[in-house]
Amino acid sequence: MQLLDVVIIESSARCNLKCTMCPRLSFSPGNGDMSLDTFKKIENYLHLTYGVDLTGWGEPLLNKNLFEMIDRATAKGCWVHFLTNATLLNEDVAKHLVLSGVRSIGVSIDGATPGTYESIRIGAKLDRVINNLKRLNELKKTYNRTNPTVTLVYVMMKQNIHELSEMVWLAFELGVKNVVFKNQNVLTKPKDVTEALFLEDQKGILADAKRAVDDALYLATVLGVSVEFHPFESSGTTLCAPNPLRSLFITWDGFVSPCCNLGHRVPRMVGPEEALSDTSLFFGNIIDKPLDEIFLSENYISFRNAFTNGYPKECEGCNLVYGV
Ligand SMILES: C[S@@+](CC[C@H](N)C(=O)[O-])C[C@H]1O[C@@H](n2cnc3c(N)ncnc32)[C@H](O)[C@@H]1O
Ligand code: SF4
Ligand code: SF4
Repeated sequence: MQLLDVVIIESSARCNLKCTMCPRLSFSPGNGDMSLDTFKKIENYLHLTYGVDLTGWGEPLLNKNLFEMIDRATAKGCWVHFLTNATLLNEDVAKHLVLSGVRSIGVSIDGATPGTYESIRIGAKLDRVINNLKRLNELKKTYNRTNPTVTLVYVMMKQNIHELSEMVWLAFELGVKNVVFKNQNVLTKPKDVTEALFLEDQKGILADAKRAVDDALYLATVLGVSVEFHPFESSGTTLCAPNPLRSLFITWDGFVSPCCNLGHRVPRMVGPEEALSDTSLFFGNIIDKPLDEIFLSENYISFRNAFTNGYPKECEGCNLVYGV
């Protein structure tokens, strides 16, 4: 019986980029990869989940044991997914990926021109990432595979909102069927507040931003690209996904948290001048306690109960609660 939809495992907390909006710039995630020994402590519970997402606050492709983790998770019958910056998706890695059981990947691209992309994704080259994705397509054809499917993930900010339509074109040219336009909703430093489009003081540029979205959505319909778009104004319904009642997050060094947003000791801006110093919440570490014991601990159960009746106080600094 599957009790969970997904177990999110931070395969790596290291990264080869320094993206300007990334919370990694505001805290020390530790410079580690999850070890196989730590992964094996989770493996015994994987029959209880439908899927495994190997994403955390780092770049999964840096973990040299990633493909072994994928093999072990698929052997337990789980679908496997992760998000990547795709800079390390060279021929060898792409071939491994196509032949592995990975069902889907999300590729983060926050600009459709080299100028915008490279001013945000510091350390990456857009042309190289595009070539990596083209090669992945070729390899899928060569090996007659449809997986992994690719979704492009775009964090919308003031500095890149004008390139949404070009991003839809890029997706179309790459044969990518799904694009996610998400808000920069994890705000950890003052610059994030000036870039986020859903805060009150961005109202001045909101009309332009909405026009950019409308144009992109129209183009997507014409080209047959499906777009998941996160609104700039609270929809009144939460975007908290995955649901912490049906998922959990485990940091590279074994700490168990309800979600990736609570899974690191990160400061969080809740307005232009207001910051919460630490928004982490952990219920134990699998290195010294079995995962089921942690999941069924009194504090964790109280958190989940609070979630069924609204939101636990720990979620109050999270913008997903407000639907943006
Ligand atoms: C932290 S990254 C980890 C995976 C991988 N390194 C990547 O870039 O795809 C996971 C996702 O978070 C997004 N992200 C980064 N900073 C963000 C922020 N401040 N608010 C919302 N999402 C953010 C990234 O663009 C990426 O899609
Ligand atoms: S590649 Fe991903 S983890 Fe690395 S800095 Fe960029 S968003 Fe953050
Ligand atoms: S609403 Fe709470 S559980 Fe959901 S992502 Fe935000 S902090 Fe995590």
